[in-house]
Amino acid sequence: MFSEKTYSERRRQLKQLVKSGVIIFPGNKEVSFNYPANEYKFRQESSFLYYFGIDKSGLNAVIDIDEGREIIFGDDFSLDDMVWMGDLPKLADQAKLVGIKEVQSENALAEFVLSAVNSKRKVHYLPQYRHDSINLLESLLGINHTAINKYASNNLIKAVVAQRSIKSDEEVAEIENAIEISYVMNTYAMMATKPGIYEREISGVVEGIALSMGEGISFPIIYSVHGETLHNHYHGNLMQDGDIAVLDSGAESLLHYASDITRTIPVNGKFSEKQKAIYNSVLNASNTALSEIKPGVLFKDVHLKAVRTLAEGLKDLGIMKGDIDEAVKEGAHALFMPHGLGHMMGLDVHDMEGLGENFVGYNTEIKRSEQFGLAYLRLGRKLEPGFVLTVEPGCYFIPKLIEKWKSESKHIDFINYKELENYLDFGGVRIEDDVYVDFNGCRVLGKPIPKTVEDVENACEGILK
Ligand code: GLY
Ligand code: MN
Ligand code: MN
Repeated sequence: MFSEKTYSERRRQLKQLVKSGVIIFPGNKEVSFNYPANEYKFRQESSFLYYFGIDKSGLNAVIDIDEGREIIFGDDFSLDDMVWMGDLPKLADQAKLVGIKEVQSENALAEFVLSAVNSKRKVHYLPQYRHDSINLLESLLGINHTAINKYASNNLIKAVVAQRSIKSDEEVAEIENAIEISYVMNTYAMMATKPGIYEREISGVVEGIALSMGEGISFPIIYSVHGETLHNHYHGNLMQDGDIAVLDSGAESLLHYASDITRTIPVNGKFSEKQKAIYNSVLNASNTALSEIKPGVLFKDVHLKAVRTLAEGLKDLGIMKGDIDEAVKEGAHALFMPHGLGHMMGLDVHDMEGLGENFVGYNTEIKRSEQFGLAYLRLGRKLEPGFVLTVEPGCYFIPKLIEKWKSESKHIDFINYKELENYLDFGGVRIEDDVYVDFNGCRVLGKPIPKTVEDVENACEGILK
């Protein structure tokens, strides 16, 4: 964990922002998969980790702003627990490491919250995504589980988003540790991918690398020769000569900070001319984005400039046509890139998404668009120094979507449906990096992972710079 000062200072700032009341932070519990004692790998709740640092299940925490108390509720291991799971430091000793002096038993939380509710004090909590936590809040507050998220505290959400959005140097270092793992995951995949093997032979090892070097993957791996399916978790295709495989994967550092990197790999080690042309259009879009990112700029505008570059590239190839500014304004390019350019990243790979995407990526200055494509942009607001976000343009040929748009003659002035017939079995290309916004612009985080056509082809041959 970080130093005691980091966690104490985060809580001090939170109290200043929220001003009054009692804040409850439910920690995560173990979750079973096929019978009660067979549990998934434990993952602590990210905001709990951010303010309380303890990576153990079965804890809840409270910050009582009015009375100046910070309490962790949880129980020490019994002798039986120790027989099966080993000895653990006392909770009070772990709490001291994060600057918390008061520890009470798990059961004492109910009485504490009841007394706060009875004295009509404001009780704040964040939106919840695990049923155990929803049930806990239902039992503590007497709010029906279906309404728990409706009564989450907007004041608290905004305060947590404000803090967690700005990454400190030690957080950036953790993210770079995660990207170091991504370097190995991606270069392994480049070297090992070849015709005649199943996708799972690569994705399984890539996942193992994440576990062997850190805390495992930050989201289920996407590795597919059907990269046109944006979140394709199926790994059962036999890879063929001439295919390209999209690998979108991320690792967690030992302190659970994420990476999120995508590379597109020619299965036989060499891109065809056609694949190269699409790949370079996506790479140019990425470079446009990286040159535009700086504080004060709306990420929505960066997205629009990047997709404009992509659309220019597609026009050069005869796939798009007409006035490209108009095409982007009308959303015609979204046939090829239906998703947003990127999202915040930190303790969650889609950072703080559970608190509400619009709280994280939008504000009173900018509302989410309803246009197809742009509506999926998770981050639209003005960039600030300290943000860490992804830049992940892509180009996809999605047969069902193309068929539908063609049948409706949609954007017929901007899309050359005849030429598109040559791309129906192309698949997709995505290139994703993780970026830190500094005072002047941005920097791509971590050890550079092969990205140009030449560097990826070299890596496929085992040649790394
Ligand atoms: N891992 C999905 C994404 O890139 O956002
Ligand atoms: Mn990704
Ligand atoms: Mn991403």
